[in-house]
Amino acid sequence: MIILSKLNKKAYELKGEYMSKQISKGMFGLFFEDINYGLDGGLHAEMLENRSFEFLEGHGYKRNYYQKGAYLYGWNPYPDSDSAKLTALDIRPLNEINTHYMCVKTFKEDAGFTNKAYDGIFLKAGVGANISFYATSKNDCNVTVKVLSKDGKELAKAENISIDSPDWKKYECCIKADNDIEAGMFTVFIDKPSVVCFDQFRMYPEDAVLSLFRKDLAELLKALHPGFMRFPGGCVIEGNQLINRYQWKKSVGPSEERAANWNRWAVHGNDDEKKDIGDFPYYNQTLGIGYYEYFLLCEYLGCEPLPVMNVGLACQYQSDEFVDSSSAEFDVFVQDALDLIEFANGDASTKWGALRIKMGHEKPFEMKYIGIGNEQWETDKIDFFHRYEAFEKAIHEKYPEIRCCGSAGPDVTSQHYKDAWGHFSPKMKENPSYSVAVDEHYYVSDKWMYENVHMYDNYEKHRKVFAGEYACHINPDRKPQERNSFGAALAEAAFMTGLERNADVVLMASYAPLFARLGYTQWQPDLIWFDAKSAYGTPSYYVQKMYSLFTGTEVLDCDFSGLEKDRIYITASKNDDKTFIKIINAGETDADIDITSITDKETEAVYVMEGDVDDCNSIAEPEKVSLKKTDFKVKASALSKKKTIIVLVFNN
Ligand code: AHR
Repeated sequence: MIILSKLNKKAYELKGEYMSKQISKGMFGLFFEDINYGLDGGLHAEMLENRSFEFLEGHGYKRNYYQKGAYLYGWNPYPDSDSAKLTALDIRPLNEINTHYMCVKTFKEDAGFTNKAYDGIFLKAGVGANISFYATSKNDCNVTVKVLSKDGKELAKAENISIDSPDWKKYECCIKADNDIEAGMFTVFIDKPSVVCFDQFRMYPEDAVLSLFRKDLAELLKALHPGFMRFPGGCVIEGNQLINRYQWKKSVGPSEERAANWNRWAVHGNDDEKKDIGDFPYYNQTLGIGYYEYFLLCEYLGCEPLPVMNVGLACQYQSDEFVDSSSAEFDVFVQDALDLIEFANGDASTKWGALRIKMGHEKPFEMKYIGIGNEQWETDKIDFFHRYEAFEKAIHEKYPEIRCCGSAGPDVTSQHYKDAWGHFSPKMKENPSYSVAVDEHYYVSDKWMYENVHMYDNYEKHRKVFAGEYACHINPDRKPQERNSFGAALAEAAFMTGLERNADVVLMASYAPLFARLGYTQWQPDLIWFDAKSAYGTPSYYVQKMYSLFTGTEVLDCDFSGLEKDRIYITASKNDDKTFIKIINAGETDADIDITSITDKETEAVYVMEGDVDDCNSIAEPEKVSLKKTDFKVKASALSKKKTIIVLVFNN
């Protein structure tokens, strides 16, 4: 690691004095969108795919999307098509919202059907899974759920269920394995030739957090100590068309009655000439994790919810669709925002507050923030600024305490960004609550990040920023998961010194996107990768974690311009108890940095993150590049090795 004698190092003195620059509590948070199978197939612990027989197959490209019913996607007869026939029906459905279900006719004893379950079922030894489904049958029969190996060997078996109702009825069972099962086949057997209809399957591992969220993924989020969570996107908020935009009211109430939606990312990569169907046409949203569960997740993580609302626009990149901002249709979008606040915070006397209470949460969620528009921009046809104003006015008339966030469009290097600030800056100067922060997005190269470490130094102080989506994009030719290299994380860490130093301007920041299932990505790099069994944080994850854990409440203003020509970036902050110094050496020079002007104490702890710039974490080596606590002690002078991040923690 750091070996003094071998270093050909430079010496620097770090000078600084405390400024009264406050760092907002929970500055570093999460951006969460169902992209890369991050929610359904990811954090949502549901193990089965197309559980309510409503999947659609997504086709088409810009302004020309269409869907085909794929109601039986993921379901297949077992052991073969001579033994059972599966049909999708919608006559006398379980409910009028999700109308399709599967009718199974078996021709012999112990025949049935399977579910694809993404890459197959993973069951940890001794950790059961709770299964439920609705069924109806005119003939009595017994049904057994099993998990089989690929070659049909029984690995785990649930108790028999006797189907005894000609009307829809809910049945439940539990399955547990003695040994770990990987890539198991979810199979349902019917004991004798029968006709049975099934709908609304569920299979959640017993250890799911809040019985809803995949444990390892939820724990990785918790370890980040996020300050807030932006949701439900991203472009998912807007949809490729208005019809598949995220509609929060469809995401609450009993999960069986939430209208499934096709995911906007199902058509990603399609083009108008040759590619009508892409790699993930069956990417759908069950809404099993809807707005209620999102608020529960924020509560579990101890972070502020930051829902983002659609302002009557489909994704501006993908579509020309919008509702006129002077129409009654637009008022529905504004009302949705007001009703969401009522759902989160209202009492039992309110319509939406009463629904929240009925769903099980008596106490308000105390939502404080709301985003107005994802990454919108003003055009000849799209009056985004007017839309923002209409939302802000309506929200503040009813809820003056709610903090509204604006949008600076998709790219901080674009004219849209300049136009946005042209609108927001004077408004915020006159009335700071017009927008508490404007959401800026940037997916940029490492070079850009290094060159823009000071981008916020000269922002006028009334301009408050929510850096809502950012990531360093390098190595386009590497495998998707290898684009999250240590080199990218170093650039992010360096850039984030500028966020922390300008914490009086940048109030919130979140890396994007959050999750990616290996083999299921539409977008990379991403913060956390996983497969059916395991998950790991990327080097970028550890950079985010470092900022969350080791940032105080007050910035120490340091003059480190002399160091930056060698690509060494430093930020220091303190809270009542501790002082934190983060030194990011992204250069080629080992350096000795005098820190006596900040503190003459010895460190309480020293953390180090190091590696080759091309190094990545993986399922096999999940913490290869991560922030590790060391036994080092530092006093007066800190040694900063090239391509290394160190965090020094001092007791005040
Ligand atoms: O983070 C991926 C996408 O990038 C988001 O959905 C969108 O807001 C941005 O363009």
